[in-house]
Order: sequence, then C-alpha cells, then structure tokens
Amino acid sequence: MIICKSPAELQKMRRSGLLVYGILEELKHMIRPGISTAELERLAEKRIREAGARAAFKGYYGYPCVLCTSINDEIVHGIPSSERLLRQGDIVKIDVGVELEGYYGDAATTVAAGGITPPLERLLRVTQESLALAIEQARLGNRLGDVCSAIQRHVEAHGYSVVREFVGHGIGQKMHEDPQVPNYGTPGQGPRLREGMVLAIEPMVNAGSADAKVLEDKWTAVTADGGYSAHFEHTVAITRNGPWVLTRP
Ligand code: MF3
Ligand code: CO
Repeated sequence: MIICKSPAELQKMRRSGLLVYGILEELKHMIRPGISTAELERLAEKRIREAGARAAFKGYYGYPCVLCTSINDEIVHGIPSSERLLRQGDIVKIDVGVELEGYYGDAATTVAAGGITPPLERLLRVTQESLALAIEQARLGNRLGDVCSAIQRHVEAHGYSVVREFVGHGIGQKMHEDPQVPNYGTPGQGPRLREGMVLAIEPMVNAGSADAKVLEDKWTAVTADGGYSAHFEHTVAITRNGPWVLTRP
C-alpha cells in the first residue's frame, strides 16, 4: 500500500530532507585525496546528533554506520573505514538517511576526489541527468513506470547499464515504504502517481555490465566486472504543483 502524506507531513519530511541535504553538501566539500571515509562518517554522525535527529541506516538490519560510502566499483552500501584513504581519481558515493520527528529523508551523491578522467565524468553526468529526468516524470497524471523508464532510457542510450538488485523506494514514517522504484520499467505501467506520494529515486548506474555481487562483509555491493558505478538519490514528493525535491533547497 502506498501511503500519501498530508501537507503537514510533507513539511516534516522537508525538514528531514534539508538536514540530509546540508550534511551531503558539507561532506562533498571534504572530499579530497588522503581523506578517509571514517572522517566523513564522524562529521555526519555529529551533524545528525546536533539536529536532534536519528541516523536511519545505523542498526538497519545490523548495518554498522550512519553513512554508506562506496568507492569506484562499489555500487552501494560500502562501509566507512579509517583504513581506506581516497586517492586522486577515485569517485565516492555518499548515501545518508535521517529520521527527524518521525519522518525520513534519504539522498545520495557521487563525488570525485581530485580530477577524474572525461569518461568517468560522463558516467557521473549521465547518472545525474537520469535522476533529473526521472524527477521530471514524478507528477500527477503519470504512472510509476514513467519515472522508472526515464532512468533506464537515458542510461542505456549512453551505453551504460542500470543495476537490478537494488531499487528506489517509497519513504515516509519508514525509510522503506511501498512502492519499489526500480531504475528500469515501462512507460504507462504501474500505479498512478497521487498527491502526497513520496519517492526516494536513486539511479545506480554501471559503466559496464549491470551485474552486481556482495562482498564478504555482507554489505558492500560491487560491480561483477570491476567497472565503475555511480549513484545519485533524492527524496521527491508528488504535489499538485509538480515534483518537490525535498532533499534540495
Ligand atoms: N539509501 C539506501 C536505501 O535507500 C541506504 C540503505 S543502507 C542500509 O536503501 F544500511 F540502511 F540498508
Ligand atoms: Co534510498
């Protein structure tokens, strides 16, 4: 069942969304060669505590951290570590979720450590564009498949592939609500989008094959072929005035 949120609930989700946004902005500016993902974790943990919020991921099915930090061929759910330092040319996906006054916000971005090659820049750009195109479809009159297919169409037109094992999701008083929001689909299919629905839309895009596997740590998902992967995510409400990106000012 897809839960539609009232305007008052959307205002609460907006507060969670802006907290997530602010943390991601601060983390983005910390990214440079030599920093560890544990330093990012510490900052995020502090900001969430200061805001009187709760980290959404920590303890979720036993996940150990506040952030997911996934480097290069790691797709999602990479665990922050003080051992692994970012190097020039790496990309890091930072995913953060919070609960504030009972409502969740969830967003992710991919950031380069120092300069990256033009092909890698293109992967990031196309993934971010696919999220923008999907958000554009998150409006009354459309169906869920319009959102999902917009991602797939753009990604595949550029020769990349969308990951199948992980999907976006409804979000509200739980981090994961109905519906699932795959990064592939058919236009005109699926549930109709209604006022007050909130979706976490999160394209995960591989430069090579779509196949993924999970490492020994039981969390880190990596590309099967070792190719790079990019991830961007926003929490988006469907309103009568069009898509409202809650995790962006
Ligand atoms: N943004 C991810 C999601 O929506 C993060 C979940 S990580 C987990 O599923 F550890 F909490 F599972
Ligand atoms: Co999510």
